[in-house]
Amino acid sequence: MRVLGIETSCDETAAAVVTEGGDVLSDVVRSQVALHAPYGGVVPEVAARDHARAVVPVVREALARAGVTAADLDGVAVTSRPGLAGALLVGLQTAKGLAWAAGKPLVGVDHLVGHLLAVFLRRDGARSTSAPDGPLTPPASPTPPASPTPPASDERPAFPYVALLASGGHTAIYRVDGPALGAIRELGATRDDAAGEAFDKVAKLLGLGYPGGPVVDRLAATGDAAAAAEAVPAVMARKESLEFSFSGIKSAVARHVAKRGRPEGQALNDLCAAFQGAVVDALVQKTVRAARAEGIERVVLAGGVAANRGLRAQMAAACARRGLGLFVPPFASCTDNGAMIAYAGALRLAAGERDTLDLAPETRTALPRVTRKGGGVR
Ligand code: KG4
Ligand code: ZN
Repeated sequence: MRVLGIETSCDETAAAVVTEGGDVLSDVVRSQVALHAPYGGVVPEVAARDHARAVVPVVREALARAGVTAADLDGVAVTSRPGLAGALLVGLQTAKGLAWAAGKPLVGVDHLVGHLLAVFLRRDGARSTSAPDGPLTPPASPTPPASPTPPASDERPAFPYVALLASGGHTAIYRVDGPALGAIRELGATRDDAAGEAFDKVAKLLGLGYPGGPVVDRLAATGDAAAAAEAVPAVMARKESLEFSFSGIKSAVARHVAKRGRPEGQALNDLCAAFQGAVVDALVQKTVRAARAEGIERVVLAGGVAANRGLRAQMAAACARRGLGLFVPPFASCTDNGAMIAYAGALRLAAGERDTLDLAPETRTALPRVTRKGGGVR
């Protein structure tokens, strides 16, 4: 089965052709980062208009690179939720038009499900890459996987696994028992900002541009977290909770900058290291705690923040200490892409599921949420 996936939920226009086994035949991602950078964040109207300009060329390119035409496809998958309504609409209308014209089935995909299954994608380059792109410790003995079943491989986790999804728009820990919506359960999420959003906001405060994650990551590498520890509180230290809150740490950095001015040189690197260290500590501790509480031995990273070197290193160390197998997809599978949408769609098609041309965009995920937004004791 060969499925086209289209992704336009936020600030990447992406399309890919993927088989139901997860083989990526093509993967085209056109980033809008430069377009939004002057505003320090994604502007929804600008995003939608640029998707409308880019989506047809991106889809054409994905088909051409895979060496297929629309007639060769077995289906068209598209991100239908969650995301920016106008941005989602562009991908949806494109997918519907193509599916209708070519007489192919259409399936909507929840973007978060795409992220959570991206670990099953096989990219030529990625397959031969060793750690940290493969499992860092051997996977535990496989448990019977839920149906439909992605083919087994040493590099892919067996179900169930615990996944940390950390991106610019979402941060949550999930228990994933299988690829179907009903087999994925949120264990805890952020009450306010996403982890990537915190990186982006702090970078903006420090005058480091947008997106903030990569540059904070780079500066933190030569920073001394201890030297700036007083500026940065721990992130949601309550031991038993699997919920996150990143707005406090952002405010602490804002207060620090208001009082002392923007740090430069080594002091800037130290502050980046302290901030990143606090965010990473929370992500790692809670993910490991979730895996232990669920009695699951496999941990998967997903989302753009999974690119963070501090997170990769600390998660690898924490998982190794506790005998957990860690699976970190290559960077191209962590950030927004069409391949994860095509793959999640292929599994839906393989399970006999279809959507109609009435499929409408939804700004919220279809995954049940247990974490309420906002503060308060709970
Ligand atoms: O998954 P993604 O490409 O898009 C969505 O938000 O869905 O994630 C982008 C986010 C941005 O907030 C960016 O700052 C963050 O991922 N990010 C990083 C790193 N690379 C990207 N955060 C921390 N360290 C990085 N190396
Ligand atoms: Zn995403």
